[in-house]
Amino acid sequence: MPPITLPPIVTRNGPWLLALGLLASPFSAMAGDPEAGQEKARTCGACHGANGIAPIDRYPSLAGQNEGYLVLSMLAYKNGNRRGGQATVMHGQMSNFNTQDIKDMAAYYAAMPRTGAE
Ligand code: HEC
Repeated sequence: MPPITLPPIVTRNGPWLLALGLLASPFSAMAGDPEAGQEKARTCGACHGANGIAPIDRYPSLAGQNEGYLVLSMLAYKNGNRRGGQATVMHGQMSNFNTQDIKDMAAYYAAMPRTGAE
């Protein structure tokens, strides 16, 4: 078997490239899985729309929203840090989900087109 030769850019800068990769993807350790998220988000559609576009004016649409923002907002509801407005509604919604569930659901909604999933 021939030895595996890495291009010089990788061998020379390997540690730096690795460090950059870690910095660039804070969620890489446990990335969200949109397919698992779809399963977990079954009950969300009543308020946020099956296609991620909220059917009711007082509820926010989630389709195509930034994934990191969705994670942080859901964690804030869960932890009780996001309050006021209708936040108590979401606090209750998040109580049964762990951080991985939240990442999965964020990946699911972030992957939807902003005009709404088909
Ligand atoms: C009973 C209706 C209802 C259900 C069910 C519901 N939500 Fe919400 N959601 C809301 C409302 C209302 C808000 C706005 C809360 C506020 O005023 O901060 C919200 C806000 C959010 C936000 C923040 C949006 C933003 O732009 O900041 C996210 C993310 C979210 N919901 C995700 C979910 C997920 C995921 C589920 C399913 C597990 C879910 N919601 C279920 C009503 C609901």
